[in-house]
Parts: sequence; C-alpha cells; structure tokens
Amino acid sequence: MLHPPPPGPLHAPPAGPLSGRIAVPGDKSISHRALMFGALAVGETRITGLLEGEDVLATAAAMRALGAEVIQDAPGTWRVAGRGIGGLTEPADVLDMGNSGTAARLLCGILATHPFFSVLTGDSSLRRRPMRRVTDPLAATGAVFAARAGGRLPLAVTGTGAALPLEYRVPVPSAQVKSALLLAGLNARGITRIEEPEATRDHTENMLRHFGAEVSVEPAGAGRVIALAGQPELRAADIVVPGDPSSAAFPLVAALLVAGSSVTVTGVGLNPLRTGLLDCLREMGAELTIGTPRVAGGESVGDLTARAGALRAIDVPPGRAPSMIDEYPILAVACAAATGVSRLRGLKELRVKESDRLAGTAALLAAGGVRAEVEGDDLIVHGLGGAPPGGGIVATHMDHRLAMSGLVLGLASRGGVTVDDAGFIDTSFPGFVALMNQLGAALAAP
Ligand code: S3P
Repeated sequence: MLHPPPPGPLHAPPAGPLSGRIAVPGDKSISHRALMFGALAVGETRITGLLEGEDVLATAAAMRALGAEVIQDAPGTWRVAGRGIGGLTEPADVLDMGNSGTAARLLCGILATHPFFSVLTGDSSLRRRPMRRVTDPLAATGAVFAARAGGRLPLAVTGTGAALPLEYRVPVPSAQVKSALLLAGLNARGITRIEEPEATRDHTENMLRHFGAEVSVEPAGAGRVIALAGQPELRAADIVVPGDPSSAAFPLVAALLVAGSSVTVTGVGLNPLRTGLLDCLREMGAELTIGTPRVAGGESVGDLTARAGALRAIDVPPGRAPSMIDEYPILAVACAAATGVSRLRGLKELRVKESDRLAGTAALLAAGGVRAEVEGDDLIVHGLGGAPPGGGIVATHMDHRLAMSGLVLGLASRGGVTVDDAGFIDTSFPGFVALMNQLGAALAAP
C-alpha cells in the first residue's frame, strides 16, 4: 500500500547539544533513475544504497508491473533484470506513484515511447500537481495522453512504437521535465535535443553515459543543451547510490542551530548541481567542512561536518534555485535563527512541489513564532539572531520536507514545535526520527 495511514502528530522539544556521526539514506533522484535505467537496460543491474522510501518503492513497483524483475537482496541492495529499450510490457493495472512527482513525470517519458496503454495515479498531493509540463512536449513523440482537467492525474497514456525524437526548450528549470524527455528519446529514432534555461541536476545525463548511451552536453547561456542519440543499447551497470544531500540538510542545519552541537553526515552526494544550500550556509557564516572528498559510483561524495555557531542573514539570488530547489524550507529555518532579514528570491517553482511550499514555509515559520512574508515569488524571513520562540503546530500538507523542517525548527526553538503529521517523512527519509534521536533529539508523539 503506497499511502500508509498517517501516524499523526510529532513533537520536537528544544534540544540539548546534538552530536554524532550518521549516514542518511540514499539519494532519491538517483534511486528512481537507477531502477528505471536498470529496467531499460539489457542484463542485470545491481544497486547498493538504494533509498527505500515510499517514493522509490512506488517506482520499484511500477517497473515490476511493466515487466522488469526488481528484487531486494538485502536492505539497500537491489537487483534489476532489464527488458531492454522498448521492451517493457503493458501493465495489468493502474500504476500508483504515491506522493512522487519524480516517479510520475519520469515514467510519463518512458511510457510515451512504449506502444501500449497505461494509467498513472497518485495520492491526493500528487493528483494536484501539474503534469502538462511533461505531457505537452511528450505528445510530439506521437504518444497520446488523456488526463483530468489541468492535465492532472489520473492520466492515461497510449505510447507510440515509432517515436519521433524531440527538440524542445524546457520553459522552467526542471530536471524532472528534462529527464522525462530524455527517457522518451531513448526509444526514438534520431537525436533528441533538449535545452534547459538553467542547469539542473544532471543525474539522468550521468546515468545515461554510465549505461552506455551517447550523450553530449553543451553550455547555452545560463543553461545547457543535451543531445541524446536514440535507441542505444543500454547495458546493465552497477550503481552505488550516495547519501541524499537533500536529506543530510536536516541534521546538518539542526547541528548549526542547536548550541554546542557537532554532527557529521558521512557519504553525502556532492554533485555541484545539488550543493546550493551548502553555499548559502557558508555565506551565512556556518562552520561546515567536507572530509574525505571522493568519487563513488560516478558522483562526488564527502563527509560533511556542521558545528553550531551564529549565522547572519542572506540574500539568495533566483539563479541558485535549481541547485537547492528542495532545500528552501530548511534554509528558511536557518534564516529564522540568523541575525537580520533574509530574502530568498525567485521561488515560483516551490508552489508546485508536494505542497505549495512557498506558502507552507511561511506558515511553518509563523507557527514557530518567526515573522515571514511572501512577496511575489520571494520569501522574506525576519531572523531572530538566536532561538525562535516555537510553541506552535505546523501544518505539513502531505509534504515530507515541511514536516522535517518544522521538527528542526522545534529542536532549535525555546518552546518546541509540533508537526500535525509526520507520516510523509517516510517518502524520502525513512528512519529520520530514530537518527535525530540518536544525535540527541527527543522527537516523540505529543
Ligand atoms: C528532482 C527534481 C526536482 C526536485 C525533486 C527531484 C529529480 O524537481 O524538486 O525532488 O529527481 O529530477 P523539478 O525538476 O520539478 O524541479
């Protein structure tokens, strides 16, 4: 069942110093892609460090329903016996992608160029999210989509077996859209050419190469043009999934804010298109160090250590958004404890995440006694130069990152914070509560 019943509210009382060395679960973006590429390759792909959160389990179930063999050998260690490009088969039932926009959008790309009928759905959060950003351009392959008003899920797709390659400029910086179009291009005859206005996470491009496809990436203004030669023979390849920097963000910011703390998160992915938050925190004066930088599974990885200390406000330019798109709620929590007024600019895309994260983050801060306003697409946070009062209840709106950000705010506060529903944390960070408590927090049901 992809929609676990909400376990209900969770309370974060003010924490004493947090300390320790932990590893966070595998990267969500890379985990989805590893299962999808494994299913499209010829041979057996072995994956270690796979994120076993609800979102990725939805992708595993979908790839199974499409005919690939997907087997868990041990926690985090999986095997996928692929069907080859164009070799997936019609699913017998609706594919339920749970809470995961990445799973739904990337799958639209794969299904567009497989000649059969399928239906995608998801939970009530995912059913509200825009899908036309992928289905409109994918229709040019010859695939036919039918969806609810506004292009929302559930949607049906009849894929094409004679796909035309796409030439498309993605209007919003979105790795999901770029990746969906590239995945469709795998089974098109000819070169698929995608231009993105700003560089977004390039895990799809890296993995395409890793599996033997021919991909070129050229700079184009602030963005890039990615060209993929269609119908390559994708060969199975082993994948080592690094720790998710978007998950590491929560214990690291908690350590920066709770006086006397020092926390190390080991094996965190440091792909330069994912490290905007680290740049921001350093500009704010954070003591953040990278130990043992290395390359694992084709991605940069390191051990990150955060030590508590005073932070100052920041003005974040809109161009930084793609490299930290999922990190704004937790950055806003850091800004709440910093000295001065922070402005986080150009956050339009946050409105279409698992929830309206721009409104949700402002409301989260208000619940913790922090003044925050949304002005156009910017978020303004009035930092308190120390621990926020806390005391309120945060509405999480089925959004894992709002839930974890609210709890970190509570740990750093004077009065604690309760989140209304911690159930969705499992979509991206199973084990979050246990890990935080291992560091010295006391997260518990209120
Ligand atoms: C992701 C891309 C981002 C991000 C999401 C994962 C991906 O979404 O928010 O959590 O794996 O490609 P957008 O591409 O829609 O910005």
